[in-house]
Amino acid sequence: MGTVNREHLKHVAAEKALFLVKDGMVIGLGSGTTMAHFIDLLGDLLRQRKVSRIQAVPTSETTAEHARRVGIPLTSLDEHDVLDLAIDGADEIDLHLNLIKGRGRALLREKIVAAHARRFVVIVDESKMVRRLGTHGPLPVEILPFGARAHLRWLASLGCQAELLREPSGDPVHTDNGNYLAMCHFPHGITDPYALADCLNAQPGILEHGLFLDMADTVVVGTEEGVRILERNTT
Ligand code: 5RP
Repeated sequence: MGTVNREHLKHVAAEKALFLVKDGMVIGLGSGTTMAHFIDLLGDLLRQRKVSRIQAVPTSETTAEHARRVGIPLTSLDEHDVLDLAIDGADEIDLHLNLIKGRGRALLREKIVAAHARRFVVIVDESKMVRRLGTHGPLPVEILPFGARAHLRWLASLGCQAELLREPSGDPVHTDNGNYLAMCHFPHGITDPYALADCLNAQPGILEHGLFLDMADTVVVGTEEGVRILERNTT
């Protein structure tokens, strides 16, 4: 799939999700290139006065800056501890609507924002759909800089190749929270995401990971054949 077409599929998914935004809502705004389409479109909608009284909680400094630029009023989880809706992109989505997120470096705030939303909606182009998580790229894990080498060694003991995400200069990337990101490459993908998540959740110094399990309520997929809406089966 060409880059232009992929951008188009992200755009149509974002356009579809826009219909979920209603007057007066407080919404979580995710991060990444798909979300950039959504933020532009929401800014247009506000300028055209087609929706009003929207407030948004951004999941990264980049998203906050973009939202300000297009005139979306910002708020925080301290002012609104329950959000009506959270919208975000994803790196991979499996058949159960479980996700890998965080290759755009914002997973910790993204997970917090999604966890405090009444509805979590994910917008993607069809290249993100996978049979098994971890087969298209690494699992990002936010780690405390204190003890980073030890965290990487422990992560590798889970059967992956773990390395720090680095800037072009060679310095470790710092997240918006001042932490490091470990990129964990599983050679055959992640066979049991629930067991892996339990393991990661229990380990000191592992601050958060990019497995978003049983969190997405709705996934909006831009495909060559049109937009597909997938709803999580909760029964
Ligand atoms: C950022 C994320 C993004 O949602 C994810 O990386 C997808 O990004 P894009 O829409 O650019 O493909 O999790 O931390």
